[in-house]
Parts: sequence; structure tokens; C-alpha cells
Amino acid sequence: MTDYFYHLGFGRKEIAPYQPTIAILSGDPLRARRIVLETPNVNFTTILSENRGLNSYVGQLANGTHFISATSGMGAPSMSIVMNELYQAGIRHVVRIGTCGSIQQHVKTGNLVITRAALCRQGAADDIAPREYPASANPFLTMALVQAAEQLGFNWHMGLTASTDTFYEGQERHDISANKYLLRSLQGMTEEYQHLNILNYEMEAGTLFKMANVYGFSVACICAVIANRTESEIPSIAIKQQAEQQAIETTVKALENLSPEYFQEKYWR
Ligand code: URA
Repeated sequence: MTDYFYHLGFGRKEIAPYQPTIAILSGDPLRARRIVLETPNVNFTTILSENRGLNSYVGQLANGTHFISATSGMGAPSMSIVMNELYQAGIRHVVRIGTCGSIQQHVKTGNLVITRAALCRQGAADDIAPREYPASANPFLTMALVQAAEQLGFNWHMGLTASTDTFYEGQERHDISANKYLLRSLQGMTEEYQHLNILNYEMEAGTLFKMANVYGFSVACICAVIANRTESEIPSIAIKQQAEQQAIETTVKALENLSPEYFQEKYWR
């Protein structure tokens, strides 16, 4: 048991006054900061660290609950280190807020995708559980996101996500990739996933969900759609900020709405 979390850059002493059990996990350090500094109904409490770009903050929900807004970095290896240390710090409820590329025509840019389970094509997950092990979200936390998105009037979809290790090859990009040779095993993959009713591509949920099921914590994931791969490989910078904001507001509302019953271990462990 360690008192200082090496990669997170803070220790038990710093979080002791707040006893947080909830974390919001963003890939992007600026998003982690925005969540505590610029979100309605969130009070900024303190900076825990701005180490290696893995920025962590404490914020407070309107109901008084403190949470950590942490940065996972890009991809499963970085996320797994952060999540391992957050668990050691006492975190037991995690919502990942990310961005994603839709692979279905009806899932438009600017919409939200709430993942109920992930197809996990990630090497880091193989260090945590067998390939066949379920990469599934907590149903109650996931439902809380759905209800919050509905209450806020946002366009949301709930379904399956493909989590990959690479943004370019692994998500079958060729037009905007430096690598013009795509392995035969990856060619046609997006079309296959469309037939398998997968909604979107992103880069962390699969491994995060397996970690949750192995370690024993509750997890859910909401992503803002910034590219629709049925139209273009290119992420849209223009809609990113607004779509991310909707994902953040949905998450904050969902966390505020969680009933006291949810925090009984039988609902989340
Ligand atoms: N994140 C991804 O992993 N893929 C996308 O297309 C957009 C964001």
C-alpha cells in the first residue's frame, strides 16, 4: 500500500479532507480542468496535480459530494496506470467522458454515445483479464447517464462500442493516415462492425470496463461524437467543444441524481 501515487502526482494526504470515491476520467487534461472550473453546478475545490499532463482536480457537486476530475491520457496503457492508482486512492465509481467516431449513419456528429459494453481490441486489457472476459459497464451508472441525457434534452444513443489501441490503423483510417498500407486483417473491419451493431470507435472504454469488473468498481462511459465515419475520417473541431460540454453536463447531472441506494455495494461492485 502506497501513500503517494507516482503517476498521478499526489498522495493520500492531499485527498484526505475530501474522501472522494467518484472520479470523472477524461482523456484530455484541458477537459479535466474545464469540468471543475467551467461547469454549472460544480464548485472548484483544489488542484491535486498537473503532473505529466495527467492533471487531477477536486470538484464538488451541488449536493456537496466531492469527486476527482482526472486525466487518463490517450489510449489504454496510460489510462490503466491512472485507473490503477485512482483505485488505490479509494475511487470506486468512474465515469469516462471521451470523444469518439460514430460508425453508424444515424449516430450523428454532436450526439452522445453511452456505452453499455465494449468490443475490446486492446493489448493492455490482456494484462488484466483473458480476451474473452466481459468488458461491460455498470447498468445503474449507465442508466443514470441515459436518464440525465434525456432530462437535458440531448441526442443520446446507448449501445456497443469498439475500443482500439490506435486511432489511425486500428480504426481503419487511410485518407488521413501516414500509413498507406492497412493490414489485411483490418481491411473491411468498420463495415463488419456496422453489421455487428457497434455504434462507435474510441480508445479506452474496453480496458477500463475490464478493470472495473476485475478490481470491483463501478464504471460508465459517455462519448461525444466528433466524427461520423460513414461520411468522413476527419474529426470536426467545430462541434467538439459543444458536444463535450453536453457529455460533461450529462455526467454531472447523472452523478447528482444517483440515489443513496446505488451506493450500497450490491449495486456497484
Ligand atoms: N476518438 C476516437 O478514438 N476516434 C474518433 O474517430 C474520434 C475520437
